[in-house]
Amino acid sequence: MAILTILTFPHPILRRKAEQVTRFDDELKQLAADMAETMYEAPGVGLAANQIGVPRQLIVIDISREEGEKKYFVLVNPVITNGEGCEVDEEGCLSVLEYTAKVKRFTKIHVTAQELDGKTFGFDAEDRFARIIQHEIDHLHGKLFIDRISSLKRNLYKKKLKKILRSEAA
Ligand code: NI
Repeated sequence: MAILTILTFPHPILRRKAEQVTRFDDELKQLAADMAETMYEAPGVGLAANQIGVPRQLIVIDISREEGEKKYFVLVNPVITNGEGCEVDEEGCLSVLEYTAKVKRFTKIHVTAQELDGKTFGFDAEDRFARIIQHEIDHLHGKLFIDRISSLKRNLYKKKLKKILRSEAA
């Protein structure tokens, strides 16, 4: 197991559309395990492979954190096949430093994906779980939550980020 480096905005890999996973081998399992470890270390509730510099359609999610157990989901090649309802709530991202914003998402979604062994499955997700999945699938499309807020807010964030990065470099 290894803790990987999480890339942050404006790193160009975060903007790249992830490729479909076609090989369901030990390397993929290892990558998912490393991503989960990286997510726990961060700590975060979800991580997409492009956030650690691997543009493949793979995400890990853990919403059980509150209960203190480490039980995570792995979604390979996930697709949202249906979405209903709409809710606005606060979001942050391990790749977007020191910022959260209110983002509009479906309340309920249906997802199809593959497991690490390639088996296809489908499931419904609601509320916070649905939100996290939508956020992570956005990553696979090269999209960040700051793309879903007003350009005014986004520009304010970019200015704020420049200041943060300048003070870190100093
Ligand atoms: Ni994120």
